[in-house]
Amino acid sequence: MSKPSLLILPGDGIGPEVMAEVERIIDWFGEKRGLEFDVTRDLVGGAAYDVHGTPLTDETMARAQEVDAVLLGAVGGPKYDSLPFELKPERGLLRLRKEMDLYANLRPAQCFDALADFSSLKREVVAGLDIMIVRELTSGIYFGEPRGIFREGNERVGINTQRYTESEIARVARSAFELARRRSGKVCSMEKANVMESGVLWREVVQEVHDAEYPDVELSHMYADAGAMQLVRWPKQFDVIVTDNLFGDLLSDAAAMLTGSLGMLPSASLGAPMENGRPKALYEPVHGSAPDIAGQGKANPCACILSFAMALRYSFDQGAEADRLERAVEKVLADGVRTADLIQAEGASPVSTSQMGDAILAALDASL
Ligand code: NAD
Ligand code: IPM
Ligand code: MN
Repeated sequence: MSKPSLLILPGDGIGPEVMAEVERIIDWFGEKRGLEFDVTRDLVGGAAYDVHGTPLTDETMARAQEVDAVLLGAVGGPKYDSLPFELKPERGLLRLRKEMDLYANLRPAQCFDALADFSSLKREVVAGLDIMIVRELTSGIYFGEPRGIFREGNERVGINTQRYTESEIARVARSAFELARRRSGKVCSMEKANVMESGVLWREVVQEVHDAEYPDVELSHMYADAGAMQLVRWPKQFDVIVTDNLFGDLLSDAAAMLTGSLGMLPSASLGAPMENGRPKALYEPVHGSAPDIAGQGKANPCACILSFAMALRYSFDQGAEADRLERAVEKVLADGVRTADLIQAEGASPVSTSQMGDAILAALDASL
């Protein structure tokens, strides 16, 4: 049987730094677990712009469509801030998501016990937390037309359009209900049906899909602003949260602080199942290119490593190996190994990105 294929796109800023650690983990699974991948590497974001004058070439896009999974580091950075909109690094990532039709973005927020005191919230609020935010990723205000900056009389007007079709809402709702069935059986859908027609439709369609296909799942609805408040007040009331593209972006960054650091949050972006039964998929940390710490060996590679664990689970049917990797990260944290983002006290000494990688590899060895 041919090896499963992986396209690695490290991107910009800390992207290549955290991806280097993931590559060591991938090699470990090849050597120690016989899980070998056919790996290709390519450029995305500012790194692609520097070489090709575009944040994503058609060739890279085509390769992404062919492989079993894409792993992405992060894109963006101040160097590219003044580029025309269509050439910005972020457009490369948005094109991948849109053209691969990766409509369901799974953003788990799990608080590892060793980090419960590190969260900006009280231990009892976050300890044992394990929620899953399902963010719609290919539509909504990120992609709706009309969009642009136009002249209206003697001033400029900036326009973006929130637009959702019934089928776009229904398919991401199904992803959330399916996940809930394998978890604690609860979904909370968030929108702003009180002020947005797209929110009214969102609420109706989620309810219809629920009543027709998933009556066994417990469904609730919340306005997204109240949801943000509840997420920091008592996050353990939630299991699966399903929401639109923009609200999901905001709520998942907020959820990062429930886990201790943005450097801990992985994600999986999944499309519809292909002929082989697997979804098209892209795995990436929730964080960005962190220009403030790039090039200093300070980045926490855990979010990117845990994103590879999600790839093992969702693209390669290797749930037990995904568990092994997640337990290795948990063990290292329990042993007190900390990158700088996980340290509060002045004077405490953090490990570097590659030392965190070393520790996780050692924990993997110890798991055999
Ligand atoms: P960011 O996530 O890059 O950084 C926010 C803060 O979190 C910074 O202080 C950073 O140092 C810290 N941080 C993030 N990841 C970390 C890690 N792994 N370890 C330790 N600390 C970490 O967000 P930003 O500063 O708003 O954006 C910077 C650039 O990244 C922008 O160009 C933005 O568009 C882009 N971005 C890209 C992605 C992506 O590629 N998926 C996601 C978010 C932002
Ligand atoms: C994320 C990022 C992206 C988004 C940007 C970089 C396009 O913030 O993945 O959360 O807004 O979706
Ligand atoms: Mn974001």
